[in-house]
Amino acid sequence: MASPPASTVHWPRERAAALAARVVPALAVLIGALAVFAIVRSTGGLPNAFNNVSYLVIVIASLAYGARGGLAATALMAALLGPLGAATGMQVDSPPSFVIRVASMAAVGLLNGVLVERTRRWAERWKETARRVDERGRAGMLALARGAEAKDETTGDHLRRVQVTAEELALATGADRARAVDIGWAAMLHDVGKLHVPDALLRKAGPLTAAELRVVRDHTIQGERILGDCPGYEIARQVARWHHENVDGSGYPDGLRGAEIPLEARIVRVADAFDAMTNDRPYAPARAIEQALEELRRYRGRQFDPELVALLEALVEGGRLMRRLGESADRPSSPARTRRPLVTPARGGVEPVRPVRTRPRLVGAGR
Ligand SMILES: [Fe+2]
Repeated sequence: MASPPASTVHWPRERAAALAARVVPALAVLIGALAVFAIVRSTGGLPNAFNNVSYLVIVIASLAYGARGGLAATALMAALLGPLGAATGMQVDSPPSFVIRVASMAAVGLLNGVLVERTRRWAERWKETARRVDERGRAGMLALARGAEAKDETTGDHLRRVQVTAEELALATGADRARAVDIGWAAMLHDVGKLHVPDALLRKAGPLTAAELRVVRDHTIQGERILGDCPGYEIARQVARWHHENVDGSGYPDGLRGAEIPLEARIVRVADAFDAMTNDRPYAPARAIEQALEELRRYRGRQFDPELVALLEALVEGGRLMRRLGESADRPSSPARTRRPLVTPARGGVEPVRPVRTRPRLVGAGR
């Protein structure tokens, strides 16, 4: 996709917000200081109690800019209520009283600023600690997902590709960046429940019995259980449970249809199927992208959300998705794609339509 022309590039919101956070308090302090000066001067000078409003201006400055802000506001108020006030004929303090007043203002500004700075540092440390704990938790869960992926003999980078595709699809639906990232993360965990499926079933040649099929399909329920009830895994649990639901109600485990299936699960359904078809699988070679899109179009409204299929087509045609998938493949953590010998198909996973069939089978229906 071509870069937008310079005239359409918007001022980044983050930069605008950061600039506003720096400038707005300074304007408020300046306007407040001038207002206090005007009120004190119009009400008879420093003997009037209105001068104590100066402390409010100093506290605002120290909240916004720390100790330096508090001291700067003190200097501003001291100048307005001292030399400048006297120059305009306002009644001011005697020198000793003025020194005590300014010292009190400076102490308030300094102490409040120091407290604000310490509180911010502690808050930053807590945020950093929380981020690390979250990262460790996610890394552990991702290790489980990779373990499940290894059992299924899919290509090593399947999870990363599904993550990228799901994230881009989520953005295309209008989700904000943070939510799209969460959906992409949840997509990586969609098959974690396969840890509960015996390897012998995942790799069994030939058809599965009804009992075996139940075990394989149970990976959706098991995935939800593995993800537990911890906060932060809500989307992942939904995706794990419902990523094999079909919009026509023919999927599993609950036979949900249409909008009953959470959007996140519908997104992963499409992303997983697209990746399965466009990359080498143990049981089928990679298909051309246009062939994969054709398959998705064929089964839209049956297995796949038609709107999501259309969005995926637009993403592919725009070039952005394939570019990101290419970047993902270049990452050191992404094993190079290798073509594996044809072995048994993955049960319960997304399975592309094969060229020869005795009975039509839906894309990604699994078993
Ligand atoms: Fe699955």
